[in-house]
Amino acid sequence: MQPSTEAQKTGTTASLTITDNRTGKVYDIPIENGTIKAIDLRQIKTGNDDFGLMTYDPAFLNTAACKSTITFIDGEKGILRYRGYPIEQLAEKCSYLEVAYLLLNGELPTKAQLEEWTTSITTHTFVHENMKKFMDGFHYDAHPMGMFISAVAALSTFYPGAKRIDSAFERQLTTYRLIGKAPTLAAYAYRHSTGMPYVLPDNDLDYAGNFLSMMFKIAEPRYSPDPVLAKALDVLFILHADHEQNCSTSAMRNVGSSLTDPYSAASAAAAALYGPLHGGANEEVLRMLDHVGGINNVPAFIKEVKEGRGRLMGFGHRIYKNFDPRATIIKRLADQVFEVTGRNPKLDIALELERIALQDDYFIKRKLYPNVDFYSGLIYQALRFPTDMFPVLFALGRMSGWLAQWQEMLLDEEKKIARPRQVYLGKEKRDVVMLSQR
Ligand code: CMC
Repeated sequence: MQPSTEAQKTGTTASLTITDNRTGKVYDIPIENGTIKAIDLRQIKTGNDDFGLMTYDPAFLNTAACKSTITFIDGEKGILRYRGYPIEQLAEKCSYLEVAYLLLNGELPTKAQLEEWTTSITTHTFVHENMKKFMDGFHYDAHPMGMFISAVAALSTFYPGAKRIDSAFERQLTTYRLIGKAPTLAAYAYRHSTGMPYVLPDNDLDYAGNFLSMMFKIAEPRYSPDPVLAKALDVLFILHADHEQNCSTSAMRNVGSSLTDPYSAASAAAAALYGPLHGGANEEVLRMLDHVGGINNVPAFIKEVKEGRGRLMGFGHRIYKNFDPRATIIKRLADQVFEVTGRNPKLDIALELERIALQDDYFIKRKLYPNVDFYSGLIYQALRFPTDMFPVLFALGRMSGWLAQWQEMLLDEEKKIARPRQVYLGKEKRDVVMLSQR
């Protein structure tokens, strides 16, 4: 959200006058950056023993929990910018590591800065050998996202120095380690589930290429990723890198606000991402396309959705109410990928679902459009990733955003441990009756 009027921009004279009809008292509440401070409402009381007015905002539909300079979204206009740069330009002109640097440092790197940044991340791609034993402890059919979440948390036990979150050096080291090691853990989770040996990182490959190598290398001495496919994966990482205060990023900030170490906070963020309404949605899209089965079944499926029997996964967004700019880029990307891999037959079902939904009153009225996940799963599948890996891929891209938001939260002078209020509607005080008399 950005200030919309001159008064809001300068933050000078704007205020809100509130009349409390219970008492007749009038309050002048300052408006700054298009917001009022919820704590300013606390002075609005009916008497001395009144706690004061609070706002009630389940799911934070209209509450800004922080000030941020990282990502700007205008959901009505379909705008997404990282540090002021439009997502379309970043996807076209930058690599994921450049974008990660941008998110964390506020500016795009120079050539020398990028080289140093890339080297620092690349020299942290290896994980302790004990992580392999840790992975081996999982059941053969463990979901890779569950393994990934646990493995990220386990990293905190290898790097206890990360607890010193007030040290800029430790924060930087953790940033290198988390961005560097996340693909290694993700690939290990996949290899474990397929019973394949773990593949060590190849630090001569770029970020996405090395990940593809750790995923899919078999007996060849050197894995050479297809450049179009590696580039597509890199772009997908960019598109997922940050999305301001979404569920997982809020988890990162909330958990991080207790000053826990960043591995534990990132693990919590990944856990939030696992859910089907967030990072698990692309997995659900593929399952949905399988369930629909063919384009002839599309009308019947849309009818089911409209009758409340399930959702059209990959459609709708809390913020975007017109179009999701990431979805537009992904649709183009899909064409490039399918030129190399051959067309994913499920694409036709997806296109037909989109076509019918976009002209149906139910979806139009509720402003439901394809989101980033509607087509990303089809690309992932064309790249040979199994459906279970989709949320893990989302987490790899989002890791840089989580870290940027975590760092911003830590350095924010207004930071405090996150502690929402509640509206208590339970029983009044009552006395315990002994078990024998109940
Ligand atoms: N299919 C059918 N109906 C829907 C859908 C959908 N995908 N999404 C929302 N609706 C309906 C919903 O039933 C409600 O209708 P009514 O007013 O009659 O009760 C109305 O639209 C508003 O829905 P809501 O759940 O209040 O909206 P929200 O802003 O809380 O939810 C959402 C946003 C993304 C959770 C939701 O649109 C959804 O569940 N979409 C499918 C899951 C999905 O694709 N998630 C990925 C989001 S993008 C990736 C990310 O950033 O995490």
